[in-house]
Amino acid sequence: MRNQENNINVISYDDKYEDDFVRVYQSVYSEKPYCESFTEDDVKEVADQTDMYLLISEDDEAIGFVGGMPLSEFYKMHPEEELNLKAGVKNAVDAYYIAELGISREKQRRGLGKELFGKFISMAESKGYKAFVLCTADKNNKAQRLYENFGFQRCRDEKENVIYRKVTQLRTNGKEESDNRPYYVRSSQ
Ligand SMILES: CC(C)(COP(=O)(O)OP(=O)(O)OC[C@H]1O[C@@H](n2cnc3c(N)ncnc32)[C@H](O)[C@@H]1OP(=O)(O)O)[C@@H](O)C(=O)NCCC(=O)NCCS
Repeated sequence: MRNQENNINVISYDDKYEDDFVRVYQSVYSEKPYCESFTEDDVKEVADQTDMYLLISEDDEAIGFVGGMPLSEFYKMHPEEELNLKAGVKNAVDAYYIAELGISREKQRRGLGKELFGKFISMAESKGYKAFVLCTADKNNKAQRLYENFGFQRCRDEKENVIYRKVTQLRTNGKEESDNRPYYVRSSQ
């Protein structure tokens, strides 16, 4: 997975990139619309919780990340979301939950998010996953366009209402705040 021209590589997560990963993760989510604050330990825990994590590096420095877990694992960690998603995701057995995606601010808009996300989906498909679920901030137009270009659609219940996940997180202003994030799904094509 090597792009010779600008020394860009998509690689499996490795502890040797831990410092880069923590820095990029904290900086990416401190941006609008998230404005979220994570300690170093929080970020290290994130990598431990996911079963598949890819990084994108430039000149051997990690500048982006994507990670997730089988939807069944996500449901074990967040049982309330299994109930919440029941009307929108009928078959959770072959479904994968994409929990994170970020590209370092100064490296954005170069096609790297698309490249990393595409490789992640392909890798999960090669492991047999047929459907994908994720959620993103309601006002995150950049990410929503990216996901829609990959065939994701807002997840809706029987009455066509969008299903949201309520996320509560410490923000960069020092306060804990909640917001409602639409779920997106993509079934096998
Ligand atoms: C979302 C994110 C990962 C995109 O990464 P990126 O490397 O800049 O994206 P790419 O250059 O590969 O662009 C891929 C697509 O995203 C969309 N996009 C990216 N930046 C955009 C912008 N500023 N405005 C509108 N659409 C944008 C476009 O659809 C684009 O495809 P196109 O170039 O064919 O139009 C990046 O902006 C990011 O890390 N944001 C902060 C963290 C975040 O929001 N993560 C998603 C959490 S669910």
